[in-house]
Amino acid sequence: MTIRRFKAERFRCLASADVELASDYNVIFGDNASGKTSFLEALAYLGRGKSFRGAPTQAVVQHGCKEFVLFGRVEKEGREFGVGVENGPEGLAARVDNQSGGASELAAALPLQIIDPDVHNLVAGGPEQRRRFIDWIAFHVEHGYVDLWRQFRRALKQRNAGLRSPAMRHSLEAWDAEYIRLSMAVDAARRRMLEGAAAVLTRQSEKLLEGEISFEYSQGWAGGVGLEAALAASRDRDVQQGSTQVGPHRADLKLRYDERQAKRLVSRGQQKLLACSMVLAAAEVAQDALGQRVLLLLDDPAAELDRAALGRLLAQSFELGGQLVATSLEENTLTFPKRPRRFHVKQGVITAVN
Ligand SMILES: Nc1ncnc2c1ncn2[C@@H]1O[C@H](COP(=O)(O)OP(=O)(O)OP(=O)(O)O)[C@@H](O)[C@H]1O
Ligand SMILES: [Mg+2]
Repeated sequence: MTIRRFKAERFRCLASADVELASDYNVIFGDNASGKTSFLEALAYLGRGKSFRGAPTQAVVQHGCKEFVLFGRVEKEGREFGVGVENGPEGLAARVDNQSGGASELAAALPLQIIDPDVHNLVAGGPEQRRRFIDWIAFHVEHGYVDLWRQFRRALKQRNAGLRSPAMRHSLEAWDAEYIRLSMAVDAARRRMLEGAAAVLTRQSEKLLEGEISFEYSQGWAGGVGLEAALAASRDRDVQQGSTQVGPHRADLKLRYDERQAKRLVSRGQQKLLACSMVLAAAEVAQDALGQRVLLLLDDPAAELDRAALGRLLAQSFELGGQLVATSLEENTLTFPKRPRRFHVKQGVITAVN
């Protein structure tokens, strides 16, 4: 997949950006607060239907405007089609190849990964980010994962509603069977995916960090105990809290670096490198499964990294062979295997310079 043309209107400080991207390397450079991250955020919004900075829809609409519009012309397997997202009076609307769709249609049309200065949170932050990481790969690798995940969420919601309502609590057992079936299916799909991804995760991380890394999947309930037994053991706590405490929504990926828990790695740079290697591995695994390239967005990759580490991060990013859009404060900080297409951004106005 390659995104050829990209337009963003009334998105953050970008009043009207319209660019032809190179199919390999692109650099957006400009001063602080010029609009570099906003540009990547807009691109990522087109592939996700939401902000990677966690901003609500209203926050990304340009101040003083009512709606934003994003459009991309995407080439896939020799065919071109349009992808569009806008937030109009009826809320967020997405179109892929002239069909209306949602976040999963966008994600399938424009698979992308992001490395930004907050990426270290994938290692240092809470488990939900690592679950999202696992689920992103599973979405692209495991057929039918998104439907399975939605069914599981519905069953979880229903069970939680049952826990909160004394009148409904007697039917909890009836729902448990469905909850267990869907939990086990989600768990099995994740395990299959991780088994296939393990070698790539290890290779990417060991190359980037030059140390020994291990990844251990934690399923979301006590090991060695069936989910049925875990639910029974957790029942009083579940009722008390009004929500289910065991299941795949509590899973995690435990990271160890040279026998230390990666969360407690002293250096922020090391946390960033480990997180970057996970992102690169995710992109590689998805590319192999899909047989198509994943768009890689690098927001200020130089932040926190020494020259050698930045060099390794870039080298491993280029090795993926996908389309790349990177931002930088200066025009020539990042070194590419060939001349990238350069864009200068100033006060939200983006201009191609070569
Ligand atoms: N909804 C909005 N409407 C208009 N401007 C906005 C909106 N949200 C943020 N901005 C502004 O957009 C500008 C660009 O922000 P952005 O984060 O893209 O800068 P940047 O080039 O990535 O800077 P840095 O180098 O510091 O990371 C900021 O001045 C910010 O205040
Ligand atoms: Mg920025």
